[in-house]
Amino acid sequence: MMRTAAALATLLASLVLLAQTARAEGDVERGEALAYTCFGCHGIEGYRNAYPSYRVPKLGGQKAAYLVVALKGYRAGTRQHPTMNGQAESLSDQEIEDVAAYLATRGTGTVEAGGTPDAAFDGAATCVACHGANGISASPMWPTLAGQHEEYLVHALNQYRNGERQDPVMSQMAAPLTDQDVAALAKYFAGLDGLETTKPAEGE
Ligand code: HEC
Ligand code: HEC
Repeated sequence: MMRTAAALATLLASLVLLAQTARAEGDVERGEALAYTCFGCHGIEGYRNAYPSYRVPKLGGQKAAYLVVALKGYRAGTRQHPTMNGQAESLSDQEIEDVAAYLATRGTGTVEAGGTPDAAFDGAATCVACHGANGISASPMWPTLAGQHEEYLVHALNQYRNGERQDPVMSQMAAPLTDQDVAALAKYFAGLDGLETTKPAEGE
């Protein structure tokens, strides 16, 4: 019995190692070159998606692991947006890691500094378990919401509600929300210190 458990533990340990090797580290320099096209939309303060009209999401300070999840979702088509599907389809797994690693270096410190102190909103009590009391998420896999564009948050929550965007967790979380809840939650999270519009480094 003990021997089987030990063998299993060894097997699991090697699987973890394999998984780590499979998920290569992002290369910030290569990511910088790849991110050039992204700034055409994500680097312009308040830039709007044409139709439906809402502000292009801020990426500065966003969790790198979530950026990878999002880009892979667009590439696989589980998340639908014509431009982003096109952008992501041209990227390999390694390039997705590279661009996410680079974008993660372009936050300007608000998220790292901890955002708005003592933020609280009763209506968001169920959300903060994952997205953080300050809207700064507790896991690298979950998006930070603090400081995101209000209109984009409304758009994202409505997409979960109407099934255009699907996620095992968020589809459940958004289902019971009313239009008023969505408006109040988006306003709350957007009003917190956090994400910023990503810009290329000065002089580049
Ligand atoms: C033509 C404009 C445009 C370009 C160029 C563009 N994006 Fe986007 N991006 C958008 C829009 C609009 C959305 C929101 C789409 C939606 O509603 O799902 C988005 C969403 C995203 C998201 C999801 C953010 C979130 O909070 O879930 C990521 C990550 C992203 N883009 C990364 C990139 C990267 C990396 C590049 C360059 C390789 C890029 N984008 C190029 C317009 C653009
Ligand atoms: C159990 C953890 C969990 C809880 C609780 C939770 N979320 Fe999420 N949320 C996630 C994950 C994971 C994602 C990314 C899903 C995806 O890839 O589409 C997400 C995505 C989102 C997004 C999209 C962000 C973006 O950048 O596109 C919004 C908006 C959001 N959540 C709002 C909320 C609100 C409001 C609540 C409370 C009513 C809530 N969430 C509760 C885990 C959670």
